[in-house]
Amino acid sequence: MYFGGDYNPEQWPEDVWLEDVRLMREAKVNLATVGVFSWGRLEPAEGMHDFGWLDRVMDLLHDNDIQVNLATPTASPPPWFGLAHPDAMPVRADGTRLTHGSRDTYCVNVPAYRAASRRIATALAERYGAHPATVMWHVHNEYGTTCYCDHCAAAFRDWLRDRHKSLDALNDAWSTAFWSQHYSAWEQIMPPRVTQYRSNPAHLLDYRRFCSDALLAHYREQRDILRAHGPQPVTTNYVMAGWTPLDHWKWSAEVDLVGIDHYTDQPGDDGLAQVALASDLARSWARGKPWLLMEQGVAAMYTPERTLALEPGEHVRRSLDYVARGAAGVLHFQWRASQGGAEQWCQGMVPHAGPDSRVFREITELGRTLSSLAPAEPEAAEVAILWDDEAAWALQNPALPTAGLDFRASVEQAHRVLWQRGIATDFVHPSHDISRYRAVLMPSLYLISDEAVANLTAYVEGGGTLVVSYFSGIADPDTRVRLGGYPGALRDLLGVRVEELHPLTAPVTLSDGTIGTFWSETVHLTGATATATYPGGGPAITRHQAGAGTAWYISTRLDASGLGDVLAQAGV
Ligand code: GLA
Ligand code: ZN
Repeated sequence: MYFGGDYNPEQWPEDVWLEDVRLMREAKVNLATVGVFSWGRLEPAEGMHDFGWLDRVMDLLHDNDIQVNLATPTASPPPWFGLAHPDAMPVRADGTRLTHGSRDTYCVNVPAYRAASRRIATALAERYGAHPATVMWHVHNEYGTTCYCDHCAAAFRDWLRDRHKSLDALNDAWSTAFWSQHYSAWEQIMPPRVTQYRSNPAHLLDYRRFCSDALLAHYREQRDILRAHGPQPVTTNYVMAGWTPLDHWKWSAEVDLVGIDHYTDQPGDDGLAQVALASDLARSWARGKPWLLMEQGVAAMYTPERTLALEPGEHVRRSLDYVARGAAGVLHFQWRASQGGAEQWCQGMVPHAGPDSRVFREITELGRTLSSLAPAEPEAAEVAILWDDEAAWALQNPALPTAGLDFRASVEQAHRVLWQRGIATDFVHPSHDISRYRAVLMPSLYLISDEAVANLTAYVEGGGTLVVSYFSGIADPDTRVRLGGYPGALRDLLGVRVEELHPLTAPVTLSDGTIGTFWSETVHLTGATATATYPGGGPAITRHQAGAGTAWYISTRLDASGLGDVLAQAGV
């Protein structure tokens, strides 16, 4: 079981390092993530390397039985890089070019940045690939930078050529007949920069897909360099947030283990529900490979307004929850709280107060507890929730029938209802083999492919239970509405035809006493039966026998207890 955190010795004089390893031993730390933001110290000038200090850190850690998850530092290019390559600084959608002075100032589509990344990764791999402390490679940090520069424009066009093959196909997929957007040459296509009015949703979605693939290409390049120099597993750390442009299924197929950074922002049960959700996602994305809690806050929650201390014992409890859900280890950001710099107020396992502190005592208690545990084999889940980043992105289109449609929020609610009932849950992609689950939940999955529909249909007909929430199955993978009545892709399976969508401004009480909010629909039964109706008598919740299984449809937003009741009726 790994235990430790990000270790940034370059921020401290060397005598502090000796105290660090002494305290790490005391806390039973066995893995330190080193070098995440060390580029400036490792390559102080272009092509000039200084590894002396890192040699000493690696040896010191090794001598103290602390293993190293060695990072490539490419998430924070040093100032010389930006000055030498001003075109590598990222550009916002509004055309503003960012400057150095923080981190993540790069564009992955710029050849000079790619070359600099390969150079530093190669130098690290050559020097430390055979070092006995190096047990894992950590590429970059929290991939997620989106850029709209001219390099991105060129790379986007190549990506589009590959996806759509011809301009005709692209024009069709993007519905460019609307507002005279027809493209007659590839060069006319730009990244979705700021426009006068609404942007084209298919253009926006393809850009999200492109960004995920472009970042992944940068990851892969480094991974392959590192793999060529040693047998250690290579990974990176995902940000668990809604803005992240990564397609987690695609990415997880490329990492040797899944690493997540998870920062809760709620106390008590709400925080535990967040831990369960993040863990179940990570374990599911990993699809049988190990997964690791690469970073978490130290006995604290970062809410948008303030940093809050966790109750005594709460940090240990949450950490054990990750472990119970399959984490191969529990790591933190960061080992020692920084004295200065932009994150001087992020907690450390050794806080500003030093080791004589509640926080360090809790860390030590956690280290002792973990040192007696082996990674857990979590209970096999019988229920799954569909997860699809593309569908989540599509639902972020700003021009939907109402604001507030949110794939993640629907997923969170469904997961939480299952969690409260003690039902072990996995996440699956709509086109994965789901036959082993007795029930599958589809929370507001706006966009769906024909293959996924065929997969879900076969699942239900084979005896599965599918519970679908409102505004699912509406669009095809190019965000075009599936015609003939909603939810176009799922009408046959659900045995309903929805004629109109009616976002609600006030709650409605359904015939069974449950409350619907936010959303309602005019539902016609074409094979299903209604289990609850709207005040006017129209079907609100329906059940449809399809082959040996059942498909349920919930055409409004229920609260947790209402959703729980439907799941109970559906035998989930
Ligand atoms: C992220 C980053 C770290 C640090 C922490 C702060 O997880 O990966 O570098 O910024 O957040 O909490
Ligand atoms: Zn760019």
